Amino acid sequence: MAIRKIVLQGDDILTKVCKPVTKFDQKLHELLDDMKETLEQANGAGLAAPQVGILRRAVVVLDDEDDFLELINPEIIATEGEQCGPEGCLSVPGKYGMVTRPYRVRVRAQDRNGDWFEAEGEELTARCFCHELEHLDGHLYTEHIDHFLTEEELMAYYQEEEEGMELPEETGEDGQ
Ligand code: NI
Repeated sequence: MAIRKIVLQGDDILTKVCKPVTKFDQKLHELLDDMKETLEQANGAGLAAPQVGILRRAVVVLDDEDDFLELINPEIIATEGEQCGPEGCLSVPGKYGMVTRPYRVRVRAQDRNGDWFEAEGEELTARCFCHELEHLDGHLYTEHIDHFLTEEELMAYYQEEEEGMELPEETGEDGQ
């Protein structure tokens, strides 16, 4: 496995439409393994093949359980609800913008051996499905925003989120 270089915004590669994966061979498996390692090292939530310079329809995302999910030739088959929150991209480091996405997203994709399956995600995973699949068609989340969030705006958002969250009830199980 190896860490691959992440392509940054401004590079033409990120504007191209990726071709379907047709060979489910060792080369694809190496790409997916490298993408997972690269994603882990970058501490990201998702990575698309064009972001490491490969114009093929393959993405890796963290699912609701924080496990890696490999999606080959993925397509969104159902969406539900709406969420609006800060979104970032490893190809646009250190920047965030508010993007509205569906709250729940169901995808259909092939695994690394070519077998079709379906997967569903909520919140961050759903956002990730949308974001990564857009990469495969040459689009970045920045097309959905009117400005990058300032640090103040970002902090204000998280503060509001925190205040809106219910504190977990104290269980005091062991009575200490
Ligand atoms: Ni991205």
